[in-house]
Amino acid sequence: MSARTDTATKPESQTRKLYVKTYGCQMNVYDSERMAETLADQGYESVDSPDHADLVLLNTCHIREKAAEKVYSDLGRLRKLEKERGKSMQVGVAGCVAQAEGEEIVRRMPQVDLVVGPQAYHRLPDMLSALEDGKGTQVITDFPVEDKFSDLPATRKSSGPTAFLTVQEGCDKFCAFCVVPYTRGAEYSRPAKHILAEASRLVESGAREITLLGQNVNAYHGEGTGGDWTLARLVREMAEIDGLARIRYTTSHPNDMSDDLIAAHGEIDRLMPFLHLPVQSGSDRILKAMNRKHDADSYRRLIDRIREARPDIALSGDFIVGYPGETDEDYEDTLRLIKDIQYAQAFSFKYSPRPGTPATGAEQISEDIKAERLAGVQEALGKSQAAFQNACIGQTMPVLLDRHGKFAGQMMGRSPYLQNVHLPADTERRGEIVMVKITEAHKNSLGGECITAP
Ligand code: SAH
Ligand code: SF4
Ligand code: F3S
Repeated sequence: MSARTDTATKPESQTRKLYVKTYGCQMNVYDSERMAETLADQGYESVDSPDHADLVLLNTCHIREKAAEKVYSDLGRLRKLEKERGKSMQVGVAGCVAQAEGEEIVRRMPQVDLVVGPQAYHRLPDMLSALEDGKGTQVITDFPVEDKFSDLPATRKSSGPTAFLTVQEGCDKFCAFCVVPYTRGAEYSRPAKHILAEASRLVESGAREITLLGQNVNAYHGEGTGGDWTLARLVREMAEIDGLARIRYTTSHPNDMSDDLIAAHGEIDRLMPFLHLPVQSGSDRILKAMNRKHDADSYRRLIDRIREARPDIALSGDFIVGYPGETDEDYEDTLRLIKDIQYAQAFSFKYSPRPGTPATGAEQISEDIKAERLAGVQEALGKSQAAFQNACIGQTMPVLLDRHGKFAGQMMGRSPYLQNVHLPADTERRGEIVMVKITEAHKNSLGGECITAP
């Protein structure tokens, strides 16, 4: 940390050790991989602990207060680690806290060497050289005009059978509770040909399943042949890539669920029958206050249409409880919506006021009521998830074997519905898609037996 003007701490060998810690959403997971690739070109080798690292990057999340505060406690822990090991390290803060708090991070934690917002990762090598040259703490949180993705290196390898691929960034929706439009900026879609090229490289290096990512991935409208492409068009083209067995996308907004995307779910086998479609609340009053621009019934009708196209689709969502002004009736409306939709899984959160967002100044619901409502929503979601899990018993489904299980001779895999499935299988079979008869259902996983010949 104190190494910013201290060239004597430069390691003798050319290889330096980089530890990246990722918080928050899948887009951060993707960005962390890309940062590690960029820095690999500069001689940094990735390690999985900060203990011997020369450079630590915290790729942070600002979505709720707790997420943002974790960064400061981790920075404190790193300072302690540095003292204990008696060797300095450089520390950088990346991601959405970096974007939202910028210089404030350095004021609060002066040992931080660099702060870099999510749109500026391609500038990391320059920032590190500036540190080497003793130029002092580096902070970049502007939204540069250039595309961060095309400047990142073309070396892109999948680390396993499943991979993430960011196709869209930013958000223009401005839900009244959310920091994303401020931390990730305006919506931007990558050109289709860059995405297809990256997808092919991922498949060549072992990916069988690719999840297309975006804060509003179904608002994708990137430049393609013959004009802008929709997400549906992109998915159709990706489905032609030899060796790519499965395609997913996340996260979607209900208002961008277009007819062609719904139709794609019925027509493209490689598009997996799973959809994360956050609704946030079942109350029209609260949805309006949240600036969601849809109501509970339009969401119900949308789900009906999606199920018509793909009857077995598994649905997931996000819910916020305790939004300012939420009454018991509003909360009951949310419980009713959960019952109506029957989610296969879903996330739920207590509303957390975020600096700079419109909802933050409003009178807050008490912590006790928030906790009570969260428990109620989680119970309702738990019931519908259990029903979905139990209905899988006796079914035979294709499972992509992607990692070792807890026990010897056991593999874990993914069902089409994004469930974890454990089964007895040789670890050599990683990357294979096998047919599995489901025999057990647990809260967050299934168990089964492989019926595909070895
Ligand atoms: N772009 C996605 C998700 C963005 S953030 C979408 O439109 O749905 C992921 C989830 O975090 C949101 O869906 C929301 O449920 C939750 N979230 C966002 N801001 C929050 C806040 N201030 N307090 C609590 N939960 C929040
Ligand atoms: Fe946030 Fe709303 Fe944009 Fe989702 S759609 S990222 S919740 S502002
Ligand atoms: Fe968090 Fe930023 Fe993702 S705030 S959820 S890391 S877009």
